[in-house]
Amino acid sequence: MPDHSDSPRSSRLPVSRRQVLAGAGGTGLLAATANSAKAATRARRTRAAAGDGTPEQIHLSWGDNPASSVVVSWASPGQAVRARVRIGQRAVPAESRPYTDGISGETVWTYHARVGGLRPGATYAYAVTADNDANAADPFSATFRTAPAGRVPFRFTSFGDLATPNDAWVLSYRQSAYAVEAVESFQPLFHLLNGDLCYANLNPTTQPQVWRDFGNNNQTSAANRPWMPCPGNHEIEFNNGPQGLTSYLARYTLPDNRVPGFGGRWYSFRVGSVLFVSVDADDVVYQDAAAFVAGPAPLTPAAGTGHPPIQPGTSFYVRGYSHGAQTAWLERTLAAGRRDDSVDWIIVQMHQCAASSSATGNGSDLGIRQQWLPLFDKYQVDLVLNGHDHDYERSFPVRGADTGAGRDVATGAVVNTLRPRPVTTTDSGVFDTSQGTVHLILGCGGTNAPLDEYGADTADGQRQAKVFTKANRPALSSTPGVYTRAAADAVEDATWSARRDTSTGYGIAVFDVEPAGHGEGGHTSIKVTHYHAIGADPVNPTTGDKGAPTPDYTEFETFRLVRPR
Ligand SMILES: [Fe+2]
Repeated sequence: MPDHSDSPRSSRLPVSRRQVLAGAGGTGLLAATANSAKAATRARRTRAAAGDGTPEQIHLSWGDNPASSVVVSWASPGQAVRARVRIGQRAVPAESRPYTDGISGETVWTYHARVGGLRPGATYAYAVTADNDANAADPFSATFRTAPAGRVPFRFTSFGDLATPNDAWVLSYRQSAYAVEAVESFQPLFHLLNGDLCYANLNPTTQPQVWRDFGNNNQTSAANRPWMPCPGNHEIEFNNGPQGLTSYLARYTLPDNRVPGFGGRWYSFRVGSVLFVSVDADDVVYQDAAAFVAGPAPLTPAAGTGHPPIQPGTSFYVRGYSHGAQTAWLERTLAAGRRDDSVDWIIVQMHQCAASSSATGNGSDLGIRQQWLPLFDKYQVDLVLNGHDHDYERSFPVRGADTGAGRDVATGAVVNTLRPRPVTTTDSGVFDTSQGTVHLILGCGGTNAPLDEYGADTADGQRQAKVFTKANRPALSSTPGVYTRAAADAVEDATWSARRDTSTGYGIAVFDVEPAGHGEGGHTSIKVTHYHAIGADPVNPTTGDKGAPTPDYTEFETFRLVRPR
């Protein structure tokens, strides 16, 4: 078991190991951080002096209407002069959105060009450049396709927990390059990246460099088709905005949610007959899993930032940050979607899970079950896509909840985990999602800590899930000065769990929306195929087999979602 998993039992390690190692050398984190901060400052000055406006980390996202608008986003090593996109005869000026990282003090230059007035279902070529683009004679160029209009077939793909191919970073792994290539191999209209993008917050003194490796890896696909992200717990960084999302928000321009003060955190968009809804579960989950200083040394930001040392035992816990604004928006959005006769499907992406039975990862969270699952029932959400646990798991369609199905891990007392209730436990391969919502765990992108090991109740042999029903805030461990965050406090028999992939923690889900149905009169359907990368686990937890990154993605399972029209 790699020690850099996303699990609460080890999530303190990525930060603490760096600190402990620095401490073992007699210098302490203070000195280590100061040295790396000085190096970052030198590098920053060098780049700023060069004024290098060469575009990199180029990626697309949908504009407010995917049939007519996209946003081209990128970064450059220094400030760009007249950053712009050329498309057809047009030159679209980019807005800049620079920020200064709150730990390293490095200034990051990002650019966003909103391209509107496009035709539906059309392919466009574009180029990205600036007056101080080193490649100005032959600037970066690519093509993309706008969304089709009307009730027409299309394909999208999804995974989360991608990381970068640079093994130097905590939780990064070379599989993430193959994962990006896998997206390209399926040629989807767009990709949903369901949170924990690059784990920059586990590499706190070098966050901009981690983001850079992430962006340049993704460019292979994201310059050719929109990649639509949601925030995960690892997008939350110390000293970077009220929810720690400044790095994320500076890099993505996402559809407008029209909620003042909360742009980019959650949004929706329409493609064909599908309403896609992307939410930030950090706002509702009990689990404390964002930026954290385990100790024993504090995390000391570079002097130029003006920020004081962050003391051991400090975590950035943002539950409730929108004070209900996100949930109110979610209900408005779902209600409007279900009222709209041109919407067949509602698909939600969020990072954390309402229904995950990973044994070594995080598990499920009561916060989502309390605040959002009743809305998913009320408005018949068809499908929920999550990351967070680095594996693949599919639920049966669920509706409503069983009360009193959980047990407190410490005391054995009965706990109400609001266990999602399956509407069928027959794994027929065809599921009517007007009767219940299917949850998919797709935290199978590219990070180096696969979690394809699942819970079992040793008493009755049933599948078992861990559930957070309260906040696991930092507590002192048995090591002096070192804090830890506990694993989930409750367990339940996972009666809702239909399929779990024990052969690998890596894969990609491919969704083919077939709005006219599939020879099934009166129904519309989505064919879902999960492809997995067998052998990519550094060590498979079931077999103990050692593996390595692989480009081979083969079919794990195919099933079909249907609903009456
Ligand atoms: Fe996560």
